[in-house]
Amino acid sequence: MVSAALVAKVLSQAVTLAVHSWEYGTVCEALLEWKNPEWSVFGADPFPGGKLPVLNVDQVDALNYVKPHIRTNNVTLVDGAGAAGDPASLGVPALLIGKTNSVYTDAAVRQEKHLVNDVPRWPNGAISQRESLPELWADEVYMAPPFLAYYAVAKNNLALAKESAGQCLLYRDVLVTPTGPWYHITGPQTKDFGLWSTGNGWAASGMARVLSTLRKSPFNSATESEQSSLTAAIKHIIDSAIALDTDSSGLLRNYLNDTTWFGEISGTAMLTATTFRLAVLAPDSFGGKYTKWAEKKMGVVDAGIDAGTGIVSPAINPLNWHDRTPFTTGSPEGQSFVVLMHAAYRDWKAKKR
Ligand SMILES: *[C@@H]1O[C@H](CO)[C@@H](O)[C@H](O)[C@H]1NC(C)=O
Ligand SMILES: *[C@@H]1O[C@H](CO)[C@@H](O)[C@H](O)[C@H]1NC(C)=O
Repeated sequence: MVSAALVAKVLSQAVTLAVHSWEYGTVCEALLEWKNPEWSVFGADPFPGGKLPVLNVDQVDALNYVKPHIRTNNVTLVDGAGAAGDPASLGVPALLIGKTNSVYTDAAVRQEKHLVNDVPRWPNGAISQRESLPELWADEVYMAPPFLAYYAVAKNNLALAKESAGQCLLYRDVLVTPTGPWYHITGPQTKDFGLWSTGNGWAASGMARVLSTLRKSPFNSATESEQSSLTAAIKHIIDSAIALDTDSSGLLRNYLNDTTWFGEISGTAMLTATTFRLAVLAPDSFGGKYTKWAEKKMGVVDAGIDAGTGIVSPAINPLNWHDRTPFTTGSPEGQSFVVLMHAAYRDWKAKKR
């Protein structure tokens, strides 16, 4: 078991290395879940009285960190470099900061309207990951639906709460393979019909955030069927990842079913984190078999942490998922996933006692 001080080192590398829209959002979520778990959607009561909490931004590291990265003069919260989904990853903190600074709420409102009204859609209604054309990336499930779910609570909008889960399931309908894992990308411009480990991690973990948001919200009983659909979709991914977990490294391969690929920490950490979250949210479906697997994967990921620098390796190159050279200088998202894994493990342990 690694120390909290070492996890903090892993996290501080994530903060230092992040330079892209989705990386800011993911670092922010890692900071929140690690340092202020009570205000993440996995906390016991993240919506006191059914509402978003009013926090002192200066006292919440996640919000303090991300605030300068949120722009308040545009339709999106940060430049997504063509991605429609990625800027939405700053939506949750924008809404939280907005409780004491309405300029940020206004920015979040513009972002939500843009996503829902302007961004192209797949024929089945799934909101595109791209601004310019309909294209579905598994990654998007971590970026937009958790924001839409949180926004639904902020605006007391049951239809949007249901829609946030619905968006995940529309992505699932298009990307899921017969054996369970999801393809990475489909669309006219970019295609990746491989079972990208990190993509499956983004999808499963994004769905877990939506599930927990709905569960802790005033919409809990009104969204029971959405919650059980999300639980089943997550389980389908985790079950297939476990079935394909056969690499001698002990890590999931970058492409889960392709034995020519190396095992790597990013997808492994994210799917492990999700398993611990689901062991708390849906213990009947995620019993001891799952947490034993997750504890084992955590041990292998942790063995890849450099105790001096806090860098975790081998990761997949976060900007080129086809890169056959293991990435060893610190993946911003991979560093965040390892922190999310430890936050999820800690919270599962606390619940278990
Ligand atoms: C909004 O951001 C886009 C890039 O994300 C930029 O091209 C555009 O000029 C910005 N608009 C304003 C009003 O700043
Ligand atoms: C992995 O799974 C995908 C999707 O089902 C399939 O297209 C591909 O051929 C498989 N690759 C290997 C190496 O089995």
